Amino acid sequence: MPARRIAPVAVLAALLAGCGDADSGAPIVPPKDAGAPPELARPLGAAVNAKAAREDDAYLRAFASTFTSMTPENEMKWSLVHPKRDSYDFADADALVGLAQATGKRVRGHTLVWDQQLPRWITRQDWKRDELRRVLTGHVREVVSHFKGRVAQWDVVNEPLQPSGRAKRDVFTRMLGREYIALAFRAARAADPRAKLFLNENGSEFPGPKQDALVALVTDLRRRGVPIDGVGLQDHTVAGKAPDAARLRATMRRFTRLGLAVEITELDVAVPRSGSLAVQARDYAASTGACRDEPGCTGVTVWGVTDKWSWIGAGNRALPFDEQARPKPALEAIRRTLSR
Ligand code: G3I
Repeated sequence: MPARRIAPVAVLAALLAGCGDADSGAPIVPPKDAGAPPELARPLGAAVNAKAAREDDAYLRAFASTFTSMTPENEMKWSLVHPKRDSYDFADADALVGLAQATGKRVRGHTLVWDQQLPRWITRQDWKRDELRRVLTGHVREVVSHFKGRVAQWDVVNEPLQPSGRAKRDVFTRMLGREYIALAFRAARAADPRAKLFLNENGSEFPGPKQDALVALVTDLRRRGVPIDGVGLQDHTVAGKAPDAARLRATMRRFTRLGLAVEITELDVAVPRSGSLAVQARDYAASTGACRDEPGCTGVTVWGVTDKWSWIGAGNRALPFDEQARPKPALEAIRRTLSR
């Protein structure tokens, strides 16, 4: 085939290849005329996933017109941004941060060090301590530097504790002990001194051994001068079993009295088959109300936008928008609670 006839075919093939995988890595175009969110007493965030934002216009519109903060649901996690030892891939995370910037949202970075969503090259290696220490601090430095000035807060360490309050036995604890936490925070502070640094934990909203262990852990970090600014309470709950506002505020105060900020970072309220959306709305109001009333609580983030894309499945009806992105009573309750 003559060269002049090959060229258009090659161009077409290259274009088609670029279009594969639902445009993974491509910029996410902000919706036109979505409307701005109302002014609220606290930043109101949502976890957003790039696939949903690209494929589901109603999801994207609901996000843009409701929320004032954005957390990438998966796209900043280790296995996605640092899949091979010597290469980083920030395409999807950059697309989400670009969306947030174009629509005026604050960004919470999630998450730098977690025992889940780790690439095999981390979990399979038989590390030497110094080598793992270098890899860990290098990862934190690279990711935080990449987003310097664009990410307001980082979940530096995610879910370090077991339900009993003991430290998890992950690759970092096994090799480095609890010192990996201090290493990660110090590396993050050095890479972006203006970003607020959080330790994010689940299942700590109610009093008990895990909450006590979390208080002891962050007390120790503060005492040693480790640069931690806040604690994230995830607050994944079930309608009718969620903590009430008074209990949640008592939990928050255990951290704010140490000089730390708190945020509710992953709120969702699953509704059992027999449950009601009214109870769900009441529980959303309790969590957001606790944050509104507690001076040290600097924001509430909901873990998703619409039920269709919820990590626990649409059947749990856990989010403020339904599968068709129609507002639920929970949304009205959140807005009322956070209205100025
Ligand atoms: O991207 C792959 C896709 O290529 C593949 O075809 C598909 C098949 O299963 O999997 C996709 O990856 C999934 C990923 O979400 C993106 O959708 C993973 O399997 C799945 O495990 C992953 O789940 C995420 C989970 O963290 C991982 O533990 C959820 O979306 C995310 O909502 C959830 O978020 C966590 C927070 O980060 C920390 N706190 C708890 C919270 C809920 O578990």
